[in-house]
Amino acid sequence: MASVVIAGVGSYAPQRVVTNAELSRTVDTTDEWIVSRSGIRERRIAAADEACSDLAIKAAGAALADAGVTAAEIDLLIIATVTADSPLPSTACLVQHRLGIPAHATCFDIVAACSGFLYAMEIAYGQLLTNRYKRALIIGAEKLSAVTDWTDRTTCVLFGDAAGAAVLHKVDTPNVGILGSDLGADGEFADNLYVKAGGSRAPASAESVGARDHFIRMNGREVFKSAVRVMETVAREMMEQHHLTADHISLVIPHQANIRIIEALAGNLKIPMDKFYVNLDRFGNTSSASIPLALDEARRAGRVKPGDLTLLVAFGAGLTYGATLIRW
Ligand code: UT7
Repeated sequence: MASVVIAGVGSYAPQRVVTNAELSRTVDTTDEWIVSRSGIRERRIAAADEACSDLAIKAAGAALADAGVTAAEIDLLIIATVTADSPLPSTACLVQHRLGIPAHATCFDIVAACSGFLYAMEIAYGQLLTNRYKRALIIGAEKLSAVTDWTDRTTCVLFGDAAGAAVLHKVDTPNVGILGSDLGADGEFADNLYVKAGGSRAPASAESVGARDHFIRMNGREVFKSAVRVMETVAREMMEQHHLTADHISLVIPHQANIRIIEALAGNLKIPMDKFYVNLDRFGNTSSASIPLALDEARRAGRVKPGDLTLLVAFGAGLTYGATLIRW
């Protein structure tokens, strides 16, 4: 029996730190409101000349180094992002070329919003098990600041820029690495979190720019309720499928959107908060980068030991969601 393991992880966050105090000078908000409603204290914002691919390449370089492999050894590259450098070509092709991943590699982007990294992991897992590919590089990379309406206090206080990456390969050992995952999507809730213009439904126009329709719009309360419900469901399913109780899980890495969402999930699952890795206070919500960024930090902080079980759990626009169980 073979398994697919995470051979290396890396992440990158832009240098510029934007605090709540700084935001409160440009929109009608306060540090107190942002911290009490979301848990976020600051976020990183990319430079004007830094695009999604630039963030992705830095995180990928760190993951390759951590895995001890070169870009030449990668034959599958998947980038999860909602903030590609441009609509065409895929950011994966730009990253492939600049990293030096061979031309015979399969490279593509996927859009699954904040669940994107778990979707990428699931695709890579399946492909590696079929022996069609030897080594996968999966990246979650976002420059959300480029699609954030900096005049909208209901969204601009939440988002940040970052990237996280992992190298995956197959081993001939059973029961290690990615033990399973449970992904889902429910387009019924698509209207709760979206960018209206810039696609084929509402192509970019002077009117769409004037109406600020190229920025993220969100019904925060509805997203909040859905998030708690779907994350609890998939986390429970993962645990039940593997006959696990809360005691077996050493660490939960949830999508970093709101501390109140994470606390509600912890309470419902009856898993103590100290088993949840939280860094949203320093990075805000970085969409598909959020889980690999947190995973990288957690590993460096010694929160992951051989044999440990880690549960990754995400939700995002779509509504997409998923949980992935990993044994180190
Ligand atoms: O990756 C998925 C991304 N999305 C999410 O995870 C979002 C999930 N939702 C949330 O995190 C929360 O719903 C928010 C943090 C977005 C909002 O928290 P809330 O407790 O649901 O607040 P609310 O939207 O119900 O707003 C409460 C009040 C409103 O004023 P009124 O109508 O009560 O007078 C808002 O206008 O707070 C106001 N408000 C703000 N006040 C100060 C909204 N944003 C701000 C702000 N500063 N930044």
